[in-house]
Amino acid sequence: MWISFAGIITNYKDVKQFLVQKGHKFRSDTDTEIIAKLIKHIHGLHPNYSFRELVEQVIQQLEGAFALCFKSMHFPGEVVATRRGSPLLVGIKTKTKLATDHIPILYSKDVFEFGGRALSTRDRDHRPHGHEIPAHGLARSQSTSEFLPQGDNKEVEYFFASDASAIIEHTDRVIYLLDDDVASVEKEGVLKIHRLKRTLEDTHAREITTLKMEIQQIMKGNFSSFMQKEIFEQPESVVTTMRGRINFDSETVVLGGIKDYIGEIRRCRRLLLIACGTSYNSAIATRQLLEELTELPVMVDLASDFLDRNTPIFRDDVCFFISQSGETADTLMALRYCKQRGALIVGITNTVGSSICRESHCGVHINAGPEIGVASTKAYTSQIISLVMFALMVSEDRISAQPRRSEIIQGLRNLPDQIKEVLELDSKIQEISKKVFEKKSLLVLGRGYNYATCLEGALKIKEITYMHSEGILAGELKHGPLALVDKGMPIIMICTRDNVFVKCMNALQQVTAREGRPILICHKNDQEPQKYGSSVLEVPKTVDCLQGILTVIPLQLVSYHVAVLKGCNVDCPRNLAKSVTVE
Ligand code: M6R
Repeated sequence: MWISFAGIITNYKDVKQFLVQKGHKFRSDTDTEIIAKLIKHIHGLHPNYSFRELVEQVIQQLEGAFALCFKSMHFPGEVVATRRGSPLLVGIKTKTKLATDHIPILYSKDVFEFGGRALSTRDRDHRPHGHEIPAHGLARSQSTSEFLPQGDNKEVEYFFASDASAIIEHTDRVIYLLDDDVASVEKEGVLKIHRLKRTLEDTHAREITTLKMEIQQIMKGNFSSFMQKEIFEQPESVVTTMRGRINFDSETVVLGGIKDYIGEIRRCRRLLLIACGTSYNSAIATRQLLEELTELPVMVDLASDFLDRNTPIFRDDVCFFISQSGETADTLMALRYCKQRGALIVGITNTVGSSICRESHCGVHINAGPEIGVASTKAYTSQIISLVMFALMVSEDRISAQPRRSEIIQGLRNLPDQIKEVLELDSKIQEISKKVFEKKSLLVLGRGYNYATCLEGALKIKEITYMHSEGILAGELKHGPLALVDKGMPIIMICTRDNVFVKCMNALQQVTAREGRPILICHKNDQEPQKYGSSVLEVPKTVDCLQGILTVIPLQLVSYHVAVLKGCNVDCPRNLAKSVTVE
């Protein structure tokens, strides 16, 4: 048995105990092994079951979030794949056009509710195999022949993957499977999608979508890692995020995915921004502007904590779920929690067709292009821009906000060139990284709009360099963290000219008074803070609420160079995954 597995089986101990009692021996402590043993066990009991039926039996016993793909020597030439809570798609490659752009769902007779009674296991053992009950009364032959390629060449290749970027080099046509879909490719090479039960919400077919992604988008090109490539793509990715949405001349912003809901959003009780990791930091980065331009209370929550607290949610709340992958389990569960309570659900994602996309009432695609490196970089800056555009759109009817809106829109216009300027600091940042890469810890200090940069910079550093790093709000310094400061403690401090500049200078002096010699990120040609720094990284000045986009890039580069100097795997840091599809 060959199984490809992503996710977690939460009841694996119970299943294992059951199988041990039945005499099965285990070689590992992994949850993957219980799946292989369980299918073997069921096959022993029901040798007449088809491969797909065995898998259906297995998944009924499993709890957790998973995407699974099975092959077996007992069923040569067949593949069965299924998902629950983890993403899974099927790529389809044919020489000629397919006869349809939909594949109908077949409902297994096994548990088809007939007169309110599900068939028992015994009933199932005595029925002929291969009988399915298709939706809308489609005969089996009808449903499958429709799916075959047109013309004489009936050759079809299938690819199973959790992310479109893994298969784009082979095909751009995919089917996104839904939870508990069981896709099987049988000997004759026909793909079928089954579900155990028919429910009212079922769409009875899965659409074959054409991906808009290009192969070059997922190639490293001249870069040594995807993360480095993605950092350097930011002058372009921020443009694609804004493309077709901002008119810089008329100073108008239209986000097509939410325009029909703007009235409802303006009338809401409060905005909630819910996310994990970097996506959460993008919410921190934009909270102040959202409060200012929408004049609504804005709550920002980590999805896991939001769920732990059973937070009260009301029908007139508007809940934003921010996620690069659109598949993060905690964020998705928080979304479902809020949806059940009647709130308006807005998805902010980078992945078309993802679970968060599909389950939201409306949303914004950040259009940053595929992000392959586990460490999120260009998605972060595009998430900020998407939320800024949302604030601009909501405040369009506020006369008093027009000067502020105008300066932000012009700030966005200049951003791509300013990002290019920041990226020119790369070799200087590489030199600075040489001074810190052997240290144990790195503190990142700042406040106001730059606080999110501190959190995000520290997250990048710990994630890919395995060095301890902490983002500290400069206003909190004297409430504890100041005790860490001495001449040996590496510190990066962000000190740009905004409404908290004076307070930042104060914090900087407190640090230098304890012999701290921070690396400074400040505005170009700003002499005042520079005299306190051991090294200085000068970034161009932009509007306060966009400054975090320019101050975070040096920190993305620090983390990248430190990771390279330490010999760490930049794109795939240990213990982490790109999509965290388990709780
Ligand atoms: O796909 P999401 O944005 O929902 O992922 C959330 C976090 O897992 C993610 O941002 C994580 O913190 C990044 N890998 C950090 O670089």
